[in-house]
Amino acid sequence: MLRWPWPKVIAHRCGGALAPENTLAGLAIAARIGCRAVEFDVMLSRDGEPVLIHDETLDRCANSSGTVAALDGALLMATDVGERFHHAFAGETIPSLDAALRRCRELGLAANLEIKPAQGHDVETGRVVGRRLASLGPDQRPALLLSSFSEGALEAAVAEAGDIPRGWLAPAFSAGALDTATRLGCVSLHLAVEGLEAAHVAAARAVGLRVLVYTVNDPADARRLAGWGVSGVFTDRPDLLLDAIR
Ligand code: G3P
Ligand code: MG
Repeated sequence: MLRWPWPKVIAHRCGGALAPENTLAGLAIAARIGCRAVEFDVMLSRDGEPVLIHDETLDRCANSSGTVAALDGALLMATDVGERFHHAFAGETIPSLDAALRRCRELGLAANLEIKPAQGHDVETGRVVGRRLASLGPDQRPALLLSSFSEGALEAAVAEAGDIPRGWLAPAFSAGALDTATRLGCVSLHLAVEGLEAAHVAAARAVGLRVLVYTVNDPADARRLAGWGVSGVFTDRPDLLLDAIR
């Protein structure tokens, strides 16, 4: 099995529940409480700028509405996604992928970059993200793990940046998920905690895949999963899980 540099606790959407999701503030908080790795979601703006956002619309996290794939990057990057979370975060805007990667490097955070294409933009999103990463070079980017629920997106990213390790994201374990992960040359399989069984973890490990699990907020669950041989968990409560593991 490949050398595995990833810690067991990965802050979900940057800082988990401790900060507005997918923001630079989240990265700062994750680093401050002792995280060494984060996960974030990347989607393309209308003009092809990769930015950190989970949903296809602004509605849930901003005080404005609109469709990410129909808005320009400059407008998205000026959109406040802090205030809605808590007024203390007012002024926190959607980061560009470039800004997030830079900040991860500065803070010493490894990054699981989840390619989250808007519907119908799978290949384009993977290609743009892959090209952007390839243009940076290994000493200009943080330790990276690429992932996606979209086969087309991950495949396109790998075609541009084949040296970056990747994981296959699946909502549930299946033989098909193992096949896809293997075919794409993945080092890991990322599975939802709901419905996960010890036998699924064993089956993935048997074909040489690490298993990462989302979203795990209860320390008792994290300990049970570690006992099954899970390599790490994505959590909204890195504060609780880091303490539990220490
Ligand atoms: O990458 C793990 C997890 O983030 C996948 O689910 O919907 O939170 O992006 P989601
Ligand atoms: Mg995600």
